[in-house]
Amino acid sequence: MMKRTLLMAATAASLFTLGAQAADGEAVYNKSCMFCHASGVGGAPRAHDEAAWKSLMDKGMPAMLKAVKEGKGNMPPNAMCGSCTDEEFKESIEFMAKKKQK
Ligand code: HEC
Repeated sequence: MMKRTLLMAATAASLFTLGAQAADGEAVYNKSCMFCHASGVGGAPRAHDEAAWKSLMDKGMPAMLKAVKEGKGNMPPNAMCGSCTDEEFKESIEFMAKKKQK
């Protein structure tokens, strides 16, 4: 009688850290928002223009998020980032509303 021993070689557990990556507002901005919001093309509030963003942020993040997702004026729905999550939009809005970091 042949006894077969199957050795299940336990591969060393990979030590990759699959930690959820925090949405990076700046990266989203650079990819999808900068095109209009850097120069203010079409009437877009300019990134890091604190005065402009202050009055917008006073309306609250939900209102900002809605404008981005539905589009507003010359901003197309989803602001040219169809794959962005709400979290990514929020982070990028916060990034634009903040004073530029040196
Ligand atoms: C094609 C140009 C364009 C792109 C790309 C764009 N925007 Fe805009 N955005 C605009 C314009 C124009 C306005 C001003 C709309 C108005 O008030 O009529 C605006 C306004 C906004 C507002 C204010 C909305 C309000 O209620 O007044 C937010 C927030 C915003 N954009 C976020 C973003 C974010 C976040 C991105 C990137 C994910 C983005 N935008 C990409 C053109 C753009």
